[in-house]
Amino acid sequence: MQKLYAVLNNYAKEENSMRLTKKQMERLESLLSQMTTEEKIGQMNQVSSSIVGGFDIPMSELQEMIKDGRISREELEEMMDKAERDYHEEDIRAGLVGSIMGNDPKKANELQRIAMEESRLGIPLIIGFDVIHGLRSVYPISIAEAGSFDDALFEETAKMAAKESRAYGIGWNFAPMIDVARDARWGRVSEGPGEDPYLASRFARGKVRGLQNDQSEVGNYVAACVKHYIAYGACEGGKDYNTVAMSSSQLHNVYLPPFRAAMEEGAATVMAAFNDLNGIPCTVNQDMLRDTLKDKLGLRGFVVSDANAIRECITHGIASDNTDAGIKAVMAGMDMDMGSRIYLNELKGAVEKGLVPMSVIDEAVRRILAVKLWLGLFENPYVPESVISLYEKEIPAEHIALARKAAEESIVLLKNENNILPIKKTQKICLVGALAGKAEEVVGAWAMGWKVRDCVSILDGLKNAGADVVYYPCCGPEGEINDAQLSAACNEGDVIVAVVGETRAMSGEATSRTDISLPGKQREMLEKLLETGKPVVAVLMNGRPMAIKWESENVPAILEAWHLGIQMGNAVADVLFGSVNPSGKLVSSFPAHSGQCPMYYNHPNTGRPAGESKFTSKYVDAPIEALYPFGYGISYTKIKYDDISVTEQNDWLNVSVMLKNVGDTEGVEVVQLYMQDVTASLVRPVRELKGYQRIKLKPKEEKKVCFSLNKQEMGFYDNSGKYLLEDGLFRIFVGGNSKDTLMQEIMVSF
Ligand code: NOJ
Repeated sequence: MQKLYAVLNNYAKEENSMRLTKKQMERLESLLSQMTTEEKIGQMNQVSSSIVGGFDIPMSELQEMIKDGRISREELEEMMDKAERDYHEEDIRAGLVGSIMGNDPKKANELQRIAMEESRLGIPLIIGFDVIHGLRSVYPISIAEAGSFDDALFEETAKMAAKESRAYGIGWNFAPMIDVARDARWGRVSEGPGEDPYLASRFARGKVRGLQNDQSEVGNYVAACVKHYIAYGACEGGKDYNTVAMSSSQLHNVYLPPFRAAMEEGAATVMAAFNDLNGIPCTVNQDMLRDTLKDKLGLRGFVVSDANAIRECITHGIASDNTDAGIKAVMAGMDMDMGSRIYLNELKGAVEKGLVPMSVIDEAVRRILAVKLWLGLFENPYVPESVISLYEKEIPAEHIALARKAAEESIVLLKNENNILPIKKTQKICLVGALAGKAEEVVGAWAMGWKVRDCVSILDGLKNAGADVVYYPCCGPEGEINDAQLSAACNEGDVIVAVVGETRAMSGEATSRTDISLPGKQREMLEKLLETGKPVVAVLMNGRPMAIKWESENVPAILEAWHLGIQMGNAVADVLFGSVNPSGKLVSSFPAHSGQCPMYYNHPNTGRPAGESKFTSKYVDAPIEALYPFGYGISYTKIKYDDISVTEQNDWLNVSVMLKNVGDTEGVEVVQLYMQDVTASLVRPVRELKGYQRIKLKPKEEKKVCFSLNKQEMGFYDNSGKYLLEDGLFRIFVGGNSKDTLMQEIMVSF
């Protein structure tokens, strides 16, 4: 307990972080001293509402019946309408629930009222929800937003999400997702900030600050829940939930940094990952939870399991039964059980038998109560009626404006042969692709709480911009080509805009794929459109890097637009017409072929780097390099880099470069700083991102861009978790992507 309070007190002086006042700590202790064992364990129990009543057979059986044609979808829907939700009111009243999931403000108020007024100690619930990239206002999926390289934007969008969450009764966002992910086959790459630990760390900081730091009013902040701890993004083969094996140095250098950054920023909670790490499921991994996360990194609040993950330790084969799984998890430092009810059912017995010391339970409860107190839930458990009705009507204009800005900054221009783009307003656009007309597709994976009336499809965006546009869906990611529509489309328009990619259901959880090329018949559709000889622009709408070698060779202009959120259509139209000059960059390398996954720019040096000669590290049937590398993205202007200079001054490396906009359009360039530790006691990456800046340049404008790199940041962790700074030769690179850079070498001593 002393240790936990030391952590909370330590930060007490900081302006904006999770901290408790002396009074709050006293209140916490007083509550704890009044709690029964059941009530304590109740705080460690998170439930979600479940469906009951409409039918009296299991859902699995119903699904089988649909497959067999014994009932129709319509009949099922009718049953679902009659079904009711169980919100576990009895358990809440009995003090057996610490947290519930949900996003219904009226229901939240009802349940909080039970907890506050009818449970013995009146402890409020902490209501959690997956607000990953917005709630009512959905902004771009994280893999897109991270590509803006805009720390202020990361923070602003998170602030907006925090406000909307509180208005829905949610005090706890299961975000940010900060898993470094390097295998585009994994569907969850869409949810995170990409393949680079440095960018992921800055993204994590921005998000935690945005969610937590504006504590001026209770309605402005929520507890962040950084996830998935740890190394979930390294699941073998890109297959979701799969095993992870890695060295300690890789863990410390690549997968831990975003979590370390989030802890420094004061993130209140952490969600453990489903996977095992070197044989120990993260759910019961004492070394990673108690020793590393809590003791070394100083987590202020608590750890929650992922859904049902405590029970899944039995399936992992690491626990013999529910009791064993519960004991292993709690002893490892897992404070809250998401959804398995194992803590509720098993921990009391385990405490009574002396298998779990009460001090372990007390620590978990202290951490949970600390977060509730910090959130102000005791004083402000309810969503005021005025706030509920505000959001029921419409989204505030400033949230819409921010969603549009975020979408615009996230778009990446991959190719623009013969300056096909921007399109002139006088040109007639023939828009094709089923995705272009579906407003509900713009929100992408893990978006809940939006209303379709707020979503702008690409078709609507073009119309809003006053385009002369004719639309034929022709073909989507699933299903066949509509030949009649396609031949009609081929005869219309001066320029063809083809929207192709993935539906929002094709990325996110449990959507791993072996083939990440354009799904369905979309390539065939593009072939036919190209045969017309008209200029064709492909707008990609997808949740992961795609293997688009053929498209990059054949389609003259390609815009990576991801799933950009509610303002997608307007943002895409802005870029297509050139009222916005694209500035986004890729945060995940695009391979030429699916078989090259995992592909990432910052891979370790091999003894035989890929080259023309045979016995080098490469695939013989694929290009050596990424189709589009990390950091890549062009614009409607051209930026020239010159005169790199690298000098050492005490604890810093000063790096500068001259940037010139040699085109006729104003633009924003994301200038990227990389380094390579040429000789070290461990094999190091060929390049590592160490800094970035967004620089705005008017036509013909020149600017000197300077970076100060703290030499303390040039080290790495060895296999015992020790941070090393080793003297020697370093290469410093600056450029507009991870491949095309200027370079200077420098000897550095620490
Ligand atoms: C499972 C997912 O892995 C996690 O990201 C999410 O927060 C929880 N379910 C709760 O929905």
